[in-house]
Amino acid sequence: MSALEGRVAIVTGAGRGLGREFALALGHEGASVVAVDIDGSTAEQTAAAVSSAGSPSLAVRADVSDPASMDGMAKAVVDRFGRIDALVNNAGLYETLTRRPFHEIDPDEWDRVMAVNVKGPWLATRAVFPAMRARGAGKVVNISSGTFFSGSTLWAHYVSSKGAVIGLTRVLAREMGEFGICVNAIAPGFTLTDASLSLVPEAATYGVARGALTRAELPADVAGAVVFLVGPGSDFITGQCLVVDGGRQLH
Ligand SMILES: NC(=O)c1ccc[n+]([C@@H]2O[C@H](COP(=O)([O-])OP(=O)(O)OC[C@H]3O[C@@H](n4cnc5c(N)ncnc54)[C@H](O)[C@@H]3O)[C@@H](O)[C@H]2O)c1
Repeated sequence: MSALEGRVAIVTGAGRGLGREFALALGHEGASVVAVDIDGSTAEQTAAAVSSAGSPSLAVRADVSDPASMDGMAKAVVDRFGRIDALVNNAGLYETLTRRPFHEIDPDEWDRVMAVNVKGPWLATRAVFPAMRARGAGKVVNISSGTFFSGSTLWAHYVSSKGAVIGLTRVLAREMGEFGICVNAIAPGFTLTDASLSLVPEAATYGVARGALTRAELPADVAGAVVFLVGPGSDFITGQCLVVDGGRQLH
């Protein structure tokens, strides 16, 4: 029996990039996978790929920054599968951001980044909490970013939002621990996704020399950590942030 068979895992931002990779990896381990994305057609494509690889799936078009949308998403999952075991808060504003000095960032863009990258994980976790609490178990994995540790310049809103994700992770771990729910974060390094490739022309070699492991980071490298934090091997780990970056930053 696969490690995650019978478990239901939700991945936000699953339409492409890292989220799609997480959805496929969780399905590969036997989980029923819910692919959530603001782009419904890409969510459908990911769900179809999970199903054709042999695991049950559901696509939900939803906006993580909208409370009603998140509550509706959780209800759709419980209606379909009867339970929620894991939530991967991956959806984030990233590719569409223009990198510029902090004093030139548009306040509306700042607010939107916070709404999707910080409020989104809070709203999604709030929406799935009743189902997890009812079972006395659950795993929440929040996708932060190595940029928080490096203080990567020219996107103060993005880096701040990813730091806030770690703060949220710590609070949620303490508040949800008594219900048997583990909450952890993952901070990927610069990873080759369509978003990264469009942001940085030399993406394939960007930062590689700074790593202990001198190759580019791939979505599959991060997916392994997600599977671990969703699965039973991490049942006594909570409130942590796992840096997955080939040793570019050492803590
Ligand atoms: N790629 C990297 O190098 C890297 C590094 C560290 C952290 N991250 C983080 O990993 C996550 C995924 O990154 P990616 O490179 O795959 O990005 P991506 O832009 O390719 O994917 C993001 C997905 O989120 C969806 N999305 C955006 N806003 C949404 C909303 N309001 N509601 C629901 N879905 C929404 C998009 O439609 C898209 O499918 C992001 O949180 C990003 O900040 C990425």
